[in-house]
Amino acid sequence: MGKLRLVVLSGAGISAESGISTFRDSGGLWENYDISEVATPQAWKKNMPLVLEFYNQRRKQLYEVEPNSAHFDLVELEKYFDVRIITQNVDDLQERAGSTQVMHLHGELKKVRSSIDEDLVHTLEGWELKKGDLCKLGSQLRPHIVWFGEPVPMMSEAAELTQTADMLLIVGTSLNVYPAAGLVEYARSNTPVYIIDPASLPVAHIPNAVLIKEKATIGMKQFVRTVLPSSPIS
Ligand code: APR
Repeated sequence: MGKLRLVVLSGAGISAESGISTFRDSGGLWENYDISEVATPQAWKKNMPLVLEFYNQRRKQLYEVEPNSAHFDLVELEKYFDVRIITQNVDDLQERAGSTQVMHLHGELKKVRSSIDEDLVHTLEGWELKKGDLCKLGSQLRPHIVWFGEPVPMMSEAAELTQTADMLLIVGTSLNVYPAAGLVEYARSNTPVYIIDPASLPVAHIPNAVLIKEKATIGMKQFVRTVLPSSPIS
């Protein structure tokens, strides 16, 4: 009998206790920038230096933060479940905690790509991407981030994966941004769904949803106790 499959949909809230701000808790600003100024293709065309600087700051911050116990608890669960993580986060904290199966729906801060061939992606050396840093085709390299208004290439793969879940854990996402938020609908009707969030999210539309109204570090301990009654994770 193989391990049960635990599919996790994580968002900015799981990295909040590591010191990375969420999106909607800061009044729709992302580190004091209006998202439309820094996270859209229009912003890139209109003000490339600002967008480059914004993501350089976000990338630089990665070197100043560490995974928190919520990230580590998800790694620990790999001993008991076939854990597959679908994250909207662009930070690498889940991988740094040791997770091996992480799907980044909205891209990855540490990666950059050609602005003319989206398949030309590579990990940036260091934290700074500058105007004039070109891909091998000669175009300006851009952040490997899914901006607002751009397609989410991994969405169908993520939806298929969610359909295979024996258990679904949603942690640290306001479920505000589609299509990612729509993943919940792909869970089978009898799949138990746990939601960890300190806010009282509207979950009435999610069948079998159990809301653990806690911060991720606390909520994860409660989740583990619930799904692994005799869990050694203290
Ligand atoms: N632990 C757990 N959850 C938390 C914590 C915490 N310590 N602090 C805040 N939260 C919750 C908030 O209550 C909120 O429900 O995390 C959620 C964060 O929601 P958002 O800020 O909307 O972040 P997210 O859902 O990841 O945003 C989705 O929107 O801006 C775009 O592309 C961006 O990937 C992002 C997407």
